[in-house]
Amino acid sequence: MKFFIDTANIDEIKEANAMGMADGVTTNPSLIAKEGRDFEEIIQDICKIVDGPISAEVISLDTQGMIKEARQLAGIHKNIVVKIPMTVDGLKAVRTLNEEGIKTNVTLIFSPLQALMAAKAGAAYVSPFVGRLDDLSQDGMILVEQIIDMFENYGIETEVIVASVRNPIHVLESALMGAHIATIPFNVLGKLAGHPMTDKGIKAFMDDWNNRKK
Ligand code: E4P
Repeated sequence: MKFFIDTANIDEIKEANAMGMADGVTTNPSLIAKEGRDFEEIIQDICKIVDGPISAEVISLDTQGMIKEARQLAGIHKNIVVKIPMTVDGLKAVRTLNEEGIKTNVTLIFSPLQALMAAKAGAAYVSPFVGRLDDLSQDGMILVEQIIDMFENYGIETEVIVASVRNPIHVLESALMGAHIATIPFNVLGKLAGHPMTDKGIKAFMDDWNNRKK
């Protein structure tokens, strides 16, 4: 399973990349807004660090506006994937962009049929938001399971990015289900790497080493 890093923060992206955990990056308008810098400048900086798909989201809500923004974003770097919200206008934009060879990631997917429609329109990626469903007392991972089953039934090549990841269980279940990608916030990446028994083991080895007979 590929790990994307779900952040627009350059220090976090550098750190994840140094660990070999940044196969790609996803951003959204909220993540960009937190950085307080120019959108294009942030995306350009990310492209210099990570050699993989970098999702940058459009702000327009109408088809023509989305297409215009998408062309501009795609012009920044060959690795740009344009994030398009899952709406009827969005589907129309995805179809046109696919014909132009611009890759899209259809975002804010909350039902399996939304994912199927996005794939049929020509999306390279779909992003089901698991954490936000969990917040509503619905099991977000069931959505991922259903999308993977449907795509397998029909040999659909659109890749599933598990998004709105909140904890290590989301990542574990994504891998067990065979999701192509999980996009992981930096704080969750840290939680995946650590284990109290690892820390305890290191301490015991160090104590024994320091108290060895010389
Ligand atoms: C990624 O593509 C999404 O924008 C992101 O995972 C949303 O996460 P959130 O629900 O924690 O905001």
